[in-house]
Amino acid sequence: MKYKSKRIEISDKDFLKIDVNRIILNRPLPFDVYIKEAGVYKKIFNKGNIVSNLFFEILKEKNIDYVYIEESGIEKLKSSALKTSETVLESPVAFKNYSFFKENFYQIDRKFLISGTEVDFSIYQLKNLRFIKIIDASIKKPSMIYDDTIPEDGDLLIEKKDLPLYKEYIEFLSKRLDKISEEESEEFKSLVIKESAKILMSQVLNEPRSGENIKKIGDVVSNIIETMLSKPDSIYNLLNLKNYDYYTYTHSVNVGVLATGLGIQIGMDRDKVYKLAMGAILHDIGKSQIPHEILNKQGKLSDTEYNIIKQHVLLGHEILEKHKEFPEESLIAVLQHHERLSGRGYPFGLKAEKIKLFGRITAIADCYDALTTRRPYKPPLTPYFALSIIVREKGDHDTELLKAFIKMLGKVK
Ligand SMILES: [Fe+2]
Repeated sequence: MKYKSKRIEISDKDFLKIDVNRIILNRPLPFDVYIKEAGVYKKIFNKGNIVSNLFFEILKEKNIDYVYIEESGIEKLKSSALKTSETVLESPVAFKNYSFFKENFYQIDRKFLISGTEVDFSIYQLKNLRFIKIIDASIKKPSMIYDDTIPEDGDLLIEKKDLPLYKEYIEFLSKRLDKISEEESEEFKSLVIKESAKILMSQVLNEPRSGENIKKIGDVVSNIIETMLSKPDSIYNLLNLKNYDYYTYTHSVNVGVLATGLGIQIGMDRDKVYKLAMGAILHDIGKSQIPHEILNKQGKLSDTEYNIIKQHVLLGHEILEKHKEFPEESLIAVLQHHERLSGRGYPFGLKAEKIKLFGRITAIADCYDALTTRRPYKPPLTPYFALSIIVREKGDHDTELLKAFIKMLGKVK
């Protein structure tokens, strides 16, 4: 079994140096863009990112006049146009379908779909807002996974009703662990913890008032902390970094993991990390009360829609306050994750001194994950660009915490 993601070694000869001014404003980038720092190429913009003024401003602030593109990009630079799936996005019927499917399907990790194993649930691919069945299977008619069955792009999903079968399938894979190397087995264990956290979070969002679920979240959070304390590198396998679309349950797990990493990084004791992580993983539980059509909407929200979304903070607080399994101290992470030190946040527009540590940490983790997550209509920002944006929003976030966060992320790669 092989779970490792491929790393690409890039050498000098594959790159072309181009003047920043050759890149056209307000167009999607037709190639990935790199900079060279201390002899190392760093990807700063993803293919498809829209070239905004911010793009140029960030480069200017860093005194960068030249960037690098892969050699194959030169033709694209000349023609410089990239088709987007805008037509699909603008179709109300396509959107309605998409929103319906998204709520009834659950996104799974492609690393679990191992060639040579059998599944007894159907698997779908989500691409450009469309769901395509790629494996047709059931208990009565299981189907074998082959090397070429699983497409490399788009998200893979199963129907929510098949979740118990998917869990059984993961358990079956776990039993084969003795057949793989120790390193791969460590990686697999982290992936299983992440997947259990995701499944549980999707259940919490369906039934936010179930005390049983919150208790289980406590167990998963403990597992995440133990794993990260014993092996800081495991954060890479605990995060979902390659999604095609945004799912609240996946985002919640990422924010929980990132906050845990930051808590550990700044030397919090275990009990405090636990309380921070509980608040961080459940920070968006209030979204369970917001209509799906608003949450899944592509593009700009109206003022009314935005005001409805903002209510998720107080709704989440109200739900968790009633759970005796949820630590009272953790509530602050939920309540303050959209507050900004500058006072520009919500729901209370609190200023710096009023925003507590758990709120500050969860805010950074939340922003970072939101920016680096892909959406059907736009590729994700690179970690480099996302961090540049967060750092740039002067006065919004805690500078010392940001430094620690960047240091912690440095360990991820
Ligand atoms: Fe939120």
